[in-house]
Amino acid sequence: MARKFFIGGNWKCNGTLEEVKKIVSMLNEAEIPSENVVEVFVSPPFVFLPLVESLLRPDFQVAAQNCWVRKGGAFTGEISAEMLVNLGIPCVILGHSERRSLLNESDEFVGDKVAYALSVGLKVIACIGETLQQRESGSTMAVVAAQTKAIAEKVSNWANVVLAYEPVWAIGTGKVATPGQAQEVHLELRKWLHDSVGAEVAATTRIIYGGSVNGANCRELAAQPDIDGFLVGGASLKVACLLSLMKRHHSFSLAFLFQIFWPLAV
Ligand code: PGA
Repeated sequence: MARKFFIGGNWKCNGTLEEVKKIVSMLNEAEIPSENVVEVFVSPPFVFLPLVESLLRPDFQVAAQNCWVRKGGAFTGEISAEMLVNLGIPCVILGHSERRSLLNESDEFVGDKVAYALSVGLKVIACIGETLQQRESGSTMAVVAAQTKAIAEKVSNWANVVLAYEPVWAIGTGKVATPGQAQEVHLELRKWLHDSVGAEVAATTRIIYGGSVNGANCRELAAQPDIDGFLVGGASLKVACLLSLMKRHHSFSLAFLFQIFWPLAV
């Protein structure tokens, strides 16, 4: 079964109420390929989740950018997975490199988070990726395999997991991985899943790429057989760009993909 292209915008810690409303209304008006062809999500900061969920067209999904590792309680400043479910948020990004590096989230902690979020019914976009130093020392595969293993040890059902390979050196730097570099890691990851988890999981799990993706570089990346979509940061603040990403891949009109990722920046 073909893996459905999966593309999302990570708005990170950006946006005002007005900007968010503007992006959502642009997205709502966009002409995009059907849900059968491409799955689209946007990931606003927590405070905007209910608003975006209530205003956004139903064929697009909303994802949180994080959630707490277990049931809520006395964890000041955290947001629980149950709260996301309660608000009707279907999806969460976990293990983003900014959280791994700035907030010291370990592989094990991310694995626990992924397992807990799945257990309450959320879909998870689990991020993995190596630093520049790790790449230069030749340990890229060892790093991403260890990150994936920490997830695999806690998760038995992969149906609601999307893996996002995001080389740290490519995030927000404008230095995108070449299609060859990205494909090499995606293929190795799929082999790792095959050998360590199972053939079915390897064949069906979407592995999306993130790191300086934009309308100009997405076509070649999307043409790689093991790249199943994109997690887009900076360019996702430009709605036009996100839409253009989707369209380029599926040869719909270019104007479209360029709409998802534009508004905050215009
Ligand atoms: P970028 O971010 O597209 O701005 O590089 C990607 C991400 O952090 O998910």
